[in-house]
Amino acid sequence: MSEAHNEHESLIKTPKQLIAAVIAGFLVPIVIIVLLVNYVGNNALTGAGSSAMTEKAIAERIAPVAHVEVKDANAPRVYQTGEQLYKAVCAACHASGAAGAPKLGSTEDWAPRIKPGYDEMLKIALAGKGAMPARGGTSPDDVTDYEIGRAIVYMANASGGKLQEPAEPAKPASGAAAATSAPAAASGADAGSAAAAAAAMASLKTAAPAAASAGGNLDAGKKLYDTVCMACHASGVMNAPKFGDKAAWAPRIATGIDTLHNAAIKGLNAMPPKGGAANASDDDVKAAVDYMVSAAK
Ligand code: HEC
Ligand code: HEC
Repeated sequence: MSEAHNEHESLIKTPKQLIAAVIAGFLVPIVIIVLLVNYVGNNALTGAGSSAMTEKAIAERIAPVAHVEVKDANAPRVYQTGEQLYKAVCAACHASGAAGAPKLGSTEDWAPRIKPGYDEMLKIALAGKGAMPARGGTSPDDVTDYEIGRAIVYMANASGGKLQEPAEPAKPASGAAAATSAPAAASGADAGSAAAAAAAMASLKTAAPAAASAGGNLDAGKKLYDTVCMACHASGVMNAPKFGDKAAWAPRIATGIDTLHNAAIKGLNAMPPKGGAANASDDDVKAAVDYMVSAAK
């Protein structure tokens, strides 16, 4: 019992106690480490079955870098009505009749276009024509052929037409099959319509003879501006820099004429490549830029 008397001096008196203390000194941190590892590991394991590790969640996480819009192919897609798309996009030109666009409500404007039939109108709206940019300037990733078709029917029927709503597209078929379908078939598959639009644009580019141009002169530029670019640049549709607006053009002109030529040919945000005139030559587009720049200096 002598140990008990000395307890207040030191807890460790015997070799047994020393060993116990040393073992405890090692064991406690080890137990804590094991618990921590378990805790972290467990989290990852429960995460595997949870939404954190699904393909969609991963795709969403990388999306800001990859700029990929994630869509669940199996989720039922909510389509815009013709009126919604018209108000969001087409009204920019078709409400006022800007640049010769057939005006909403004008039977006179629409009758000759309705006559060749819905398929023909859809084809033109998808491929673009004159100042009408392909798909009204929208991307097939955002707006399907079906929605463009609905907007056409909305406009035509508000202007004396009696067209039927296009049929809602069936579930996306296999990508390859959809990609080969003709534009007029209005396949609802995003992949299909994207390919169809690309094909339409490509055929337009190769089939349409390039506008005759001596290149780089302001006359050719004015001509293209009057037929195509003014649709947006005359009034500043979608924040396009307005024709003759020095304040709007100064910061753009400061980036250099090559930058402006490139942007006009390749497109920039809401501005479609070549303003939607896929058949215009690069030289004509450059001339149109020069014309616009010369008017804003
Ligand atoms: C930037 C202006 C602009 C926008 C935006 C625009 N259009 Fe047009 N659209 C035009 C012009 C200009 C024409 C006349 C083209 C021509 O005949 O030379 C036209 C013609 C059309 C035609 C008649 C084609 C035919 O058969 O002759 C349809 C259909 C049409 N647009 C649909 C649409 C739809 C749908 C949208 C919206 C998704 C849209 N447009 C957005 C300018 C525009
Ligand atoms: C459908 C509407 C639309 C049409 C048609 C259009 N533009 Fe644009 N354009 C825009 C918009 C919107 C911008 C502003 C883009 C931005 O800065 O985000 C723009 C910007 C530009 C710029 C400035 C680019 C820069 O680097 O700042 C040039 C140059 C230009 N357009 C030339 C043209 C020419 C040439 C045509 C005709 C061949 C044309 N645009 C037709 C909408 C249009």
